[in-house]
Amino acid sequence: MTFVVTENCIRCKYTDCVEVCPVDCFYEGPNFLVIHPDECIDCALCEPECPAEAIFAEDELPSDQQGFIEINAELAEVWPNITEKKDPPEDAEAWDGKPGKLEHLER
Ligand code: SF4
Ligand code: F3S
Repeated sequence: MTFVVTENCIRCKYTDCVEVCPVDCFYEGPNFLVIHPDECIDCALCEPECPAEAIFAEDELPSDQQGFIEINAELAEVWPNITEKKDPPEDAEAWDGKPGKLEHLER
């Protein structure tokens, strides 16, 4: 199993999650983070740290977020690793909870 970053991370990207990951398996794109499914050890430490509640265990993913399993796996292969928290986008709060953010995902 793995944990998965889902749609509400897009344009929020708070990065609190990376601080607690014991195996540093987060990867960073322009406005979204992903978890490498082969590196995640299912410790669950990151899930409660996300202010946007965007992280789920793979087997607890909401049905409309299933596509993020593939998105995490694909982008973790091409994006650089991130291990330290950084400032979120200035408008992160305004984007928290907005529907339809997938179209804003920058690759
Ligand atoms: Fe890292 Fe644990 Fe979260 Fe997996 S569940 S991404 S190992 S903090
Ligand atoms: Fe994204 Fe939440 Fe981490 S918004 S960057 S999954 S803390």
